[in-house]
Order: sequence, then structure tokens, then C-alpha cells
Amino acid sequence: MKIIAIANQKGGVGKTTTAVNLGCALAEQGVRVLIIDLDPQGNATSSFGLQELEGESLYEPLLGTATIVDKILPTRVDRVFIVPADLDLAGAEVEIARLDNHLTRLAETLAPLRSDNTFDFVLLDCPPSLGILMTNALAAADELLTPIQCEYFALEGLVKIVRIIEQVRDSGANDRLEIGGIVMTMFDSRTNLSAQVVADVRAHFGERVYEAVIPRTVRLSEAPSFGKSVLEHDPNGTGARAYRALAVEFLQRHPV
Ligand SMILES: Nc1ncnc2c1ncn2[C@@H]1O[C@H](COP(=O)(O)OP(=O)(O)OP(=O)(O)O)[C@@H](O)[C@H]1O
Ligand SMILES: [Mg+2]
Repeated sequence: MKIIAIANQKGGVGKTTTAVNLGCALAEQGVRVLIIDLDPQGNATSSFGLQELEGESLYEPLLGTATIVDKILPTRVDRVFIVPADLDLAGAEVEIARLDNHLTRLAETLAPLRSDNTFDFVLLDCPPSLGILMTNALAAADELLTPIQCEYFALEGLVKIVRIIEQVRDSGANDRLEIGGIVMTMFDSRTNLSAQVVADVRAHFGERVYEAVIPRTVRLSEAPSFGKSVLEHDPNGTGARAYRALAVEFLQRHPV
């Protein structure tokens, strides 16, 4: 089992969209995926139409009053499971901060999943801010998958992430953490800017940047309102094809 943190401290770059659609595209390829919604906003949760549940989140496992296995729910997609989030999770930030092992709570919570191998991949949908939940995700992850929006300040944002990773390594919370992959999102083929940004990011980060580039498409942004992934909402559209291509490439890099 591999734990992948889908993380970028910048908001609105496509973390949740990538967690949901890459997760579903990986499952289409036959692997078993657990998506953990680490964002109290619960966007990944509502993308699966599961927003009405109460008390189903990582809150209790993080505080040690339940195990993660109790909080794993099936979704309507075969082989895709989720630990949902709700606003309670925001409260966990404060309470975890008081615990001794506050940086490694998530890593400890996930330990049973590492040993039983029920899932091939655990995708952590991280919140945008650099709080306790995001730091816990970085401490628990085998690697990062960072979505970058094709816009002007993309490289500046990446420099910040690299620095954050160095801090997590130096803190001793996770000395093997690195950026495993970068996925360029919201690519607009009508502008030169998008192509220029992709070229710049590739020049700096080389092979780590996935060949698959996610286009900006309305289908991707409207799919969650139907409680569906884009693979189900618009199976033959450019968004679905891009996430499928990303999944194939991801599996080449992470053979199961
Ligand atoms: N490729 C795309 N094309 C069009 N819209 C997109 C695309 N990817 C994401 N979006 C839309 O952009 C918004 C931000 O995307 P998303 O929620 O995935 O980002 P995020 O990084 O998870 O945001 P946050 O930091 O708030 O958690 C959403 O409304 C989403 O539907
Ligand atoms: Mg999000």
C-alpha cells in the first residue's frame, strides 16, 4: 500500500478534483483506492454525494477514540472507498495540537491499513492551509502528488512546497518525503500562457511532471454537483480522458 498526499498549500488548484477523478480512474484499472478527505470543507466527500452523514470523519480516529476501519465507507464506484470529512474535523486541529505526538497522529491512525493491505493506494485530499491536518498528511505520506494550476505564479508556489517538504524532513516527522509527481491542471489550450507555464515547470522538475495534462473543462467542475466523477458524468470527454491517462502513467510509476 502506498500513501499519496495530494497537496499544495495554494487553494483551488485542483487537489480535490484530482483526488476524486484520479482515484476513480485508478479503480477503473482494477486497483483498490481509499480516498481520505482531510479537508473540513468536505469537497471530496460531497463529490461522492456523501455530505449528509454525521460523525463520519477522521476526527475520532485522529483523537484515538475510534479506529480508521470504522470510518471507511464504500462509494457508488467499485473499488473506491472514502473516509469522509465534515466541519468537526476543523475542531480536531485544535485538539490534536494538544497531544504529544501531534505531527504523527495520522501516520499512527493509518498504520493498521499498512499492515492489512486492503488498499493499493490511499489518497489524502489535503486542505489548502498549512495547518496540523496538512502537516499530519505530509508526515504520513510516502510521497506527494502536487497539482499545479497552469497560471503565472505556478513556479513560485512550487518553490514553497519544496521548502515545506524540507521542513517536514528536518523535523524528523518523515525523512523520506518527496514530491513523487506534479500534475498540471486547468490547462487552457487557447492561451500561450498555459503552454508556457507547463514548459517552465517541466524545465525545472523534469520527469517528475506527468505527461498527462488536465484541461480546463466545465465537465470537470460540474461533475461533483451530480455526485459523480467525470468518468461517469462525461466518460468520453477531454477531462475523463486526461484523468485516465494520468492513472495509467501513475500505475507505470507505481506498479502494483
Ligand atoms: N480541470 C478543471 N477544469 C475546470 N474546472 C476545474 C478543473 N479542476 C478543478 N476545477 C474547479 O476549480 C475549483 C477548484 O478545484 P478543486 O476543488 O479541485 O481545488 P482544490 O485545490 O481542492 O481547492 P481547495 O484548496 O479549496 O481544497 C473547483 O470548483 C473545481 O470544480
Ligand atoms: Mg480541495
